[in-house]
Amino acid sequence: MELFEALLTRTSKRDFENKPVPKETIEKILSASLKAPSWANSQPWEIAVSTGKTSEFIKKSVYKLASEDDPGNPDFPFPLSPALWLDKQNANMFETGKLIYESMGILRDDAAKRKDFALYNQDFFGSQTAIYIYMDEKLGHWSTLDCGMLIQNILLAAHDLGLGACPQAYLVRYPDILREAFKLPDSKKFLLGISIGFYKKDSAANNIQTSRVELKDAVKYYD
Ligand SMILES: Cc1cc2nc3c(=O)[nH]c(=O)nc-3n(C[C@H](O)[C@H](O)[C@H](O)COP(=O)(O)O)c2cc1C
Repeated sequence: MELFEALLTRTSKRDFENKPVPKETIEKILSASLKAPSWANSQPWEIAVSTGKTSEFIKKSVYKLASEDDPGNPDFPFPLSPALWLDKQNANMFETGKLIYESMGILRDDAAKRKDFALYNQDFFGSQTAIYIYMDEKLGHWSTLDCGMLIQNILLAAHDLGLGACPQAYLVRYPDILREAFKLPDSKKFLLGISIGFYKKDSAANNIQTSRVELKDAVKYYD
């Protein structure tokens, strides 16, 4: 796939076949993605790929907490309050949330279906594979940016190979479970999880086209 086509056609996928992604495919995606730039080539990211029994352990442990509405304790607190955003960002998020739920036929006041969707988030949206990005607690802002570049590479590389992926804050909501699953010390902090897999082409959840503000509203030119 040509790069511009990949940039223009990638979307988050949220409904996968119950299958793992083969290790060779994950290695192909990650070895290319690790070409991402980083501050002085510091390469601050650490990556855990979960499949098989590890995925089963994470899903089972997280499901229990999520189904009990445990808010979790993400290493980087979720900015859930509208007061933490500007009006225009709140408007973008409101419009996107509405689009995503409506596309899947979930009504605003249908608490049960909304909860099912939240739980499906924790289930890697049906896939057996998720990629987790974490870094040491000593690192800060610039390393987070570097990890973001790695994550975008992973999303585009997956798309190029015909796989679907969804970057998910939800997947790092209960980081103690992840540290247990991956045998990591408390000093390792989870930034994001990515569900990745063979997506169901006809699923409504995989055919959502989110909008973007127009170029003229996003960019200012200074001659
Ligand atoms: C940092 C970050 C966290 C996200 N967390 C979630 C999540 O927990 N669950 C989810 O379904 N989508 C999540 N998304 C996906 C966004 O909703 C999605 O990227 C956005 O709506 C734009 O849609 P697109 O990816 O299809 O272009 C996240 C994206 C980012 C970059």
